[in-house]
Amino acid sequence: MKKDVILLVGAGQIGLAITRRIAHGKTVLVGDVKRENADAVAKVLNEAGFEAISTIIDLGSKESILNYIHEALTYGDILHLVNAAGVSPSQASIKKIIDVDLYGTAVLLEEVGKVIKSGGTGVSISSQSGHRMEALDETINEQFALTPVEELREIDILKEENIRDSLHAYQLAKRCNVFRVKAEAVKWGYRNARINSISPGIIVTPLALDEFKGPRGDFYKNMFEKCPAGRPGTADEVAGLAELMLGHQGAFITGSDFLIDGGATASYFYGPLKPE
Ligand SMILES: NC(=O)c1ccc[n+]([C@@H]2O[C@H](COP(=O)([O-])OP(=O)(O)OC[C@H]3O[C@@H](n4cnc5c(N)ncnc54)[C@H](O)[C@@H]3O)[C@@H](O)[C@H]2O)c1
Repeated sequence: MKKDVILLVGAGQIGLAITRRIAHGKTVLVGDVKRENADAVAKVLNEAGFEAISTIIDLGSKESILNYIHEALTYGDILHLVNAAGVSPSQASIKKIIDVDLYGTAVLLEEVGKVIKSGGTGVSISSQSGHRMEALDETINEQFALTPVEELREIDILKEENIRDSLHAYQLAKRCNVFRVKAEAVKWGYRNARINSISPGIIVTPLALDEFKGPRGDFYKNMFEKCPAGRPGTADEVAGLAELMLGHQGAFITGSDFLIDGGATASYFYGPLKPE
């Protein structure tokens, strides 16, 4: 008998930690742009008593996303989406961040929303970065939420010439994710399914370690010292929150974004992390 399928997009630490909480009795399709990452996470899951298959997906390509979903449907109905793929400001160009973190995420949410099983749930990993950027005009928020996906990259604020640097691109992408999730929650609701996002602060993963070593390394050290938690977070702490949102105890949660950052954003606005 076919089992329900979990789509794990992004075979990193956060995606793995979330998936382990919900994967029993299901088939996990572990997708990543790097085959070795997908294989490694599938191996960890298989050796821990779960059932996982690895494959390649490039979140920056609609064709690749559609192939991935098509493959998943050959294994069973899609019950959960865990979108934990992404590139960070130190890893990628403005264009790449907009293509993968913003456009690709929007495509994935929309396409999975067309096939998600009744009772299904999803979570997409956004970032505290999106919460730090200045408030945007309501018109822009609405454009982020509702612009047809193929036209998203053409809205003024997302044109390359209007983006300052890769950090700004990342902030815009993550802000946009939150609005996409809100709008998608309405559509997922018609299928009796739910979708939410999580905006983590700094979580120790390979992606974050690249950031610590990058040009903003000192900025991060300062953030850990001055945020209420006094440390970076772990993928397992994010997974605890995701488990609530993905399971029956989160049945009334949809279209929401949850900030989990050890208080760094609070301190950024109202405490010692406030910029001079
Ligand atoms: N680690 C943090 O501090 C932090 C904070 C806030 C948000 N996030 C977000 O969490 C998500 C997961 O990151 P992580 O910290 O677990 O990092 P990670 O490096 O452990 O995992 C990210 C994975 O995404 C994959 N990936 C990159 N580009 C891809 C593409 N085009 N298609 C498919 N897969 C791709 C990478 O190969 C990698 O395996 C990202 O969206 C990131 O922006 C991370």
